[in-house]
Amino acid sequence: MTDKPKKMKTPDTQTVTEVKHWTDRLFSFRVTRPQSLRFRSGEFVMIGLMGDNGRPLMRAYSIASPSWDETLEFYSIKVADGPLTSRLQHIKVGDEIIMRPKPVGTLVHDALLPGKRLWFFATGTGLAPFASLMREPETYENYDEIIMCHTCRDVADLEYGRQLVQSLPDDPLIGDMVGGKLRYFPTTTREQSPVMGRITDKLEDGSLFKDLAGLPICKETDRAMVCGSIGLNTDLKRILEGFGLEEGANSKPAEYVVEKAFVD
Ligand code: A2P
Repeated sequence: MTDKPKKMKTPDTQTVTEVKHWTDRLFSFRVTRPQSLRFRSGEFVMIGLMGDNGRPLMRAYSIASPSWDETLEFYSIKVADGPLTSRLQHIKVGDEIIMRPKPVGTLVHDALLPGKRLWFFATGTGLAPFASLMREPETYENYDEIIMCHTCRDVADLEYGRQLVQSLPDDPLIGDMVGGKLRYFPTTTREQSPVMGRITDKLEDGSLFKDLAGLPICKETDRAMVCGSIGLNTDLKRILEGFGLEEGANSKPAEYVVEKAFVD
């Protein structure tokens, strides 16, 4: 009996339309969007490249563009010996990447109960889902105030987020909604900048509320979304639960949600 040849499934490929390098460790890029792809701002998909062994090498990436955008944006770290990002960092306009068009994730509005103030807590490339949510009209329809807290080691690591936040008031679709509602709180932990320190320390010592001239977080009014390293996520869970917030999910909306920033 002879083995039947295995039928190879053609991977879903998308074409790179834009690449921007922010630092020697960070870059963003855009790819074409499959016509059939529907996703909720804040979700992630699997993307990758064909490996040397002929098998796709895939990783989870938050979609950094909003659900209404014509192309898909991603924000990535570059890891010199990272199986995927060591190669992905060299992509150029016109190249193809593989994408599995099955968006999932918990950093979505559906996983939160209604509230008044929404906190986005990100470190490093954990900003990506919030780059999507900050461009999502529902964010501004659902909340009176949105506070984007982003902590990075160095000032240059903040630049992608800083430029995005700065551009929002001029955005033809959501510019008018953003006005006065979105606040941006960037901090660095290694390089000198106007506000230094880990966001977790600032929450615990209350200096964040003093700096923002706002009330401490409370269960009735505040909702939070967290995306960073496992250490950040664990620490923030403890801190948010200390304020009385409970973790939500798509199936059971509550007061805060967490997702790991996916890195190589
Ligand atoms: P720090 O410089 O004090 O480690 P990384 O580049 O390692 O992913 O870190 C990105 C940012 O996240 C850094 O500013 C880092 O601060 C901060 N960070 C790392 N772990 C935590 C944590 N457990 N709580 C708060 N911030 C953290």
